[in-house]
Amino acid sequence: MSSSDKWPCAALRDADLSARTTMRVGGTAEWLLEPADPEELREAWLAARARGLEPRMLGGGANLIVEGGRFPGAVISTARMRRIFRPGHEGEEGLPSAQVAPLERERDPRLVAWCGATLPALVRAATKLGWSGIEGLVGVPGTLGGGIAMNAGGRWGDLWDVVQSVRVLAPDGELRDLERADCRPAYRNGNLGENVLVGAVLGFAVEKPADVQARADEYLTEKNRVQPVSERSSGCIFKNPDPELSAGRSAGKLIDDCGGKRLTRGAARVSPLHGNFIVNTGTATAADVLTLIEDLRDLVAQRTGLRLETEVRIWRLPEPAPRPAAPRAGAGGAP
Ligand code: EPU
Repeated sequence: MSSSDKWPCAALRDADLSARTTMRVGGTAEWLLEPADPEELREAWLAARARGLEPRMLGGGANLIVEGGRFPGAVISTARMRRIFRPGHEGEEGLPSAQVAPLERERDPRLVAWCGATLPALVRAATKLGWSGIEGLVGVPGTLGGGIAMNAGGRWGDLWDVVQSVRVLAPDGELRDLERADCRPAYRNGNLGENVLVGAVLGFAVEKPADVQARADEYLTEKNRVQPVSERSSGCIFKNPDPELSAGRSAGKLIDDCGGKRLTRGAARVSPLHGNFIVNTGTATAADVLTLIEDLRDLVAQRTGLRLETEVRIWRLPEPAPRPAAPRAGAGGAP
């Protein structure tokens, strides 16, 4: 792998993508750009566009399955954009929990985070301060950017529950602030469209830190009981279907009821703990995982008539450009 200074930020050539996803499968990116702050992110994005490349955004890779092969063009990673701070304290170092005086804790329970801030770091910071609203995401991997783009969440709440406003890089290349009311997030869909999430202001409810911590501990215990938390996976593969169509059965329950937990492809297998998780038991390839996803979809469709929709994002290689047709003998053209 080599780097280049022609980009306006740190850049790696032929960067491994599998190590940057929690499923640990997939190929490489021709360019991996690593901006360190919102302005660098904007410049990297503009530089890629100026070269005719449509950049792909990569957060924590927790909800992403990358096909094998080499992805031409540029992937922008938010791994260096992890800052979390309080409104008005952007220049200060350190996590906010160390800095908040008791009165201020009650007066202004808000955090600002950049897109690469990890969800575990955000949950930790808010919980320590006794700020409630995000503890339901305890144990969820990934970053703010991916979490807001897909409205990560579950039984104990969704990330958008605490979002007050977002800063996005709009398709015209400008940074814009959008209020929550302008965004209309839905189930597992942040509804950002073509906008790239750069950062967000999160607002919480003030409680006793011990109470918030106790809830976070309880949720984490439950999560560890029913999900393969420590294994390589992409979290839930499918969205839960409309409960009216599935008689209230979640995707995991449907797969379980249909016998899907027995399915494997190579070293990819459906988790015996939770039917909506595929785990990479060691040497699974992207093809193993993607084929197993289709096996599960087919199985549930055959048995129930329901077509499950993927929650995970899948990066597929672009189709090779069609080769120009060979000129026919005798046809007019170059001599
Ligand atoms: N169930 C089964 N068998 C299974 C899996 C589940 O019978 O193999 C049953 C459970 O016993 C429960 C019901 O199905 O009665 C629902 O399962 P669970 O409580 O695990 O919730 P879920 O709907 O499958 C959602 C989110 C998860 C989140 C959990 C907990 C989706 C697609 N999934 O799962 O999010 O962690 O709630 O909050 O909305 C993710 O998005 O990646 C993810 C893991």
